[in-house]
Amino acid sequence: MSPSNHDAHLNKFEALERKNAEALLGGGQARIDAQHKKGKLTARERVDLLLDEGSFEEIGKFVMHRSKDFGLDKEYYLGDGVVTGYGTVNGRLVYVFSQDFTVFGGSLSETHAEKIVKIMDLAMKNGAPVIGLNDSGGARIQEGVVSLGGYADIFYKNTLASGVVPQLSAVMGPCAGGAVYSPAITDFILMVEDTSYMFVTGPNVVKTVTHENVTSEELGGASTHSAKSGVTHFSCANEVVCINNIKQLLSYMPQNCEETAPLLPYTPAGDELRPELNNIIPENPNQPYDIRDVIQGVIDTDSFLEVHQNFAENIVVGFARLAGRSIGIVGNQPAVLAGVLDINASTKAARFVRFCDSFNIPLLVLEDVPGFLPGTDQEWRGIITNGAKLLYAFCEATVPRITVITRKAYGGAYDVMNSKHIGADMNYAWPTAEIAVMGAKGAAEIIFKREIAQAEDPEAKLQEKVDEYQQKFATPYRAAHRGFVDEVIVPAQTRQKLIRAFKMLENKVDTMPRKKHGNIPL
Ligand code: HXC
Repeated sequence: MSPSNHDAHLNKFEALERKNAEALLGGGQARIDAQHKKGKLTARERVDLLLDEGSFEEIGKFVMHRSKDFGLDKEYYLGDGVVTGYGTVNGRLVYVFSQDFTVFGGSLSETHAEKIVKIMDLAMKNGAPVIGLNDSGGARIQEGVVSLGGYADIFYKNTLASGVVPQLSAVMGPCAGGAVYSPAITDFILMVEDTSYMFVTGPNVVKTVTHENVTSEELGGASTHSAKSGVTHFSCANEVVCINNIKQLLSYMPQNCEETAPLLPYTPAGDELRPELNNIIPENPNQPYDIRDVIQGVIDTDSFLEVHQNFAENIVVGFARLAGRSIGIVGNQPAVLAGVLDINASTKAARFVRFCDSFNIPLLVLEDVPGFLPGTDQEWRGIITNGAKLLYAFCEATVPRITVITRKAYGGAYDVMNSKHIGADMNYAWPTAEIAVMGAKGAAEIIFKREIAQAEDPEAKLQEKVDEYQQKFATPYRAAHRGFVDEVIVPAQTRQKLIRAFKMLENKVDTMPRKKHGNIPL
């Protein structure tokens, strides 16, 4: 451009600069200050924290709403309450939307929704994750049904994108009413303690309908949803922790369902044998131990990211690395409720297994399970249907799947926890494994009931029969004779065996019968 042309256009360039500056201010400095005062970052500050420096490219910065009712014909903000675009996290492409609470409380208008849908479409076509940073008062009340339509458009796209690209939702402020269903459809939800909440109906409606007095925090804060409902996978101390968690989560995932997760360079450190694993299982089979010690004993140092840490603690799930390879781990937790499977543990693990399978992340199962939790509470709330979810999820998974039975593998839970019968590729057992229909005492009491009752010393008879059952069945060898266990290994060898087996399985191809989609027991 010649200098004279430049002069001629100067006014236009300055006008653009002014517009850009206006857009950056969102709802204005006073509202930005109010946001900071609540201990919250602004939408743009969050995007800056999330993305690699200088990588953000904004889309739709000057979009404005089209409404005229209730004074909206006089109130416009560039961007309309959501910052959208793309950038990189650790060099990898992501799409992001970040709701701006300083503009109409981050409420969702028709155009706000269109901006979100636009980047979701791009993400699906280009195969990269979508990250939503939610901070919104819900539907833009002045707009009525077009706002509701906008939500439905997003829910629809969330569903279409499910299993195509990873979708992560951070809730960093209010998220109420039907708005909760977009995060709920995505793969992972992260909430910030004290400043975020999610509920279908707020405390006022709850009071009117059920006469319960409850605060927003109690009803739908991060601690409630991480421990009680399981709605959120991560409860984060503050927004910076939340955003760092998102970055860490992404590091274990591929960009889309056609790819595998990045394989980090790995040089064997000479510590493939882990003698400490030999001492984990207590002598008394009823004594608890922490399955996390087994996890730490097999994975690359400091590579475990636990998911759903505070919910259904009788099962532990999370991502880790094994010789640089991203894996998903599901482990029964003998330290909580003896590691029994109940409704919450089953649904927690099922969802995790399905995520891993959707995105080609191999699965490692560490098994020490006494069975399913008995009782009217569990039966009446549907342990049958819910336990079946975990069974179905494992049956359907085609990623490389390996199980290590550390101790108990009893009853139906033996089948469910990634047994060879339902498609596990390799199944190892430690010498401490007990693979049986049930514990020895329960078994002896049933099958030798009459003999014990008629014995001179029933106590001694019972013990004799318990010992007999124990010797015959409470070992890994019956299963190994049948080939249901591929190898009985010394615990210290576990890491080495797993590294080799996952390497052996890295090109696994397996398919399901042709169908529209299965009908998982919901
Ligand atoms: C339009 C809204 C808004 C909304 C907040 N604002 N929510 N504008 N539509 N939904 C505006 C306020 O008017 C205010 O504007 C600014 O955002 C900040 O709001 P405050 O109330 O001052 O903030 P705060 O005290 O922090 O309270 C936040 C809040 C509260 C708890 C979210 O604003 C609130 O209760 N909003 C309404 C929530 C709601 O009922 N939404 C509809 C839910 S139903 P000024 O100009 O003063 O800055 C729904 C259906 C979805 O969402 C269905 C999907 C299928």
